[in-house]
Amino acid sequence: MTTPTEVTRPHGRVRIDSYLDGGGERSLADDVLDGLTRPFKELPPKHFYDARGAELFDRICELPEYYPTRTERAILRERADEIAAETGAAELVELGSGTAAKTRVLLDALESAGTLRRYIPLDVTESMVRMSAETLVREYPDLAVHGVVGDFERHLNEVPEPLGPRIVAFLGGTIGNFPPGSRRRFLRQIARLLGPEDFLLMGTDLVKDPGVLEAAYDDAQGVTAEFNRNVLHVLNRELDADFDPEGFEHVALFDERHEWIEMRLRARRAQTATVRALDMTVDFDAGEELRTEISAKFTLERATGDLAAAGLELVHWLTDADEMFALSLSRLRG
Ligand code: SAH
Ligand code: TRP
Repeated sequence: MTTPTEVTRPHGRVRIDSYLDGGGERSLADDVLDGLTRPFKELPPKHFYDARGAELFDRICELPEYYPTRTERAILRERADEIAAETGAAELVELGSGTAAKTRVLLDALESAGTLRRYIPLDVTESMVRMSAETLVREYPDLAVHGVVGDFERHLNEVPEPLGPRIVAFLGGTIGNFPPGSRRRFLRQIARLLGPEDFLLMGTDLVKDPGVLEAAYDDAQGVTAEFNRNVLHVLNRELDADFDPEGFEHVALFDERHEWIEMRLRARRAQTATVRALDMTVDFDAGEELRTEISAKFTLERATGDLAAAGLELVHWLTDADEMFALSLSRLRG
């Protein structure tokens, strides 16, 4: 455990621990040094989510083409009472919690079951953790919220000790944003947050028609394109760089062999950007691509295999009638 750089207690029932001060920018600098000097340029997706990126992502969730959010919410509505009964959870830990919009469905069910005591959102976007914490304590008069502002790849150890049986929720298909090897390693780290009475509730987008998948990551209004280009705005601001976001085209394609979506930014023309904070220049050929995200799609077999590799066993596989999206409830293998 490290000491949070900042602890705030805006109300009696809210506590926010922040671990990002400075460290966040250092990791951006490292990721840029590493990722933009590779033979195939690449940046990790966590840098999309500054305040503007988080807002754009919220708009993505409402788009007609982006079915995962509404499908996952529908499955949760259908099955939340069952999940509450099965887990008897006193607390909900949520990784990559964002606005915690769908989380309310779970909190409602746990509150009705009479077991709920605490919610622990963990996200890199500080404004989101603060806002959701303040809103939720108002909506749930008996709930304590302990927010953690941090990087789930670095700060899982900062999740507070459990008050009782817990659900660790990892929604939105965010697990798909890890490449397969890192995905299993990350699941092993999550498993360390679980005791014998605890459960992992994980959302996974499912393999389906490539046209449907590609549209979900390349909407007609161009919101996803803007979200993708936002990472360049983040670099310009945080690292005093001069990327021309409009000089890059948004690309989303389904890789059928790996069964994942890849998002890229393709240089519309040859160009050079300067990253002043790192004293570095980055050259792009015309048509050269920078990979900004993968979003792996799952089958029951893939999800079960990944969970098993982390010492977890599937308890329920919850899916919609069209099998667009699935939630898995799993626990440590007995
Ligand atoms: N759970 C929400 C949001 C999913 S989007 C939903 O299902 O709609 C992914 C979320 O994970 C964003 O809120 C983003 O800020 C957060 N995130 C991405 N990378 C992260 C990281 N490395 N550490 C912590 N949070 C991260
Ligand atoms: N976890 C989400 C997913 O993979 C993140 C996401 C959705 C996303 N749409 C996006 C990330 C567009 C970048 C761009 O589905």
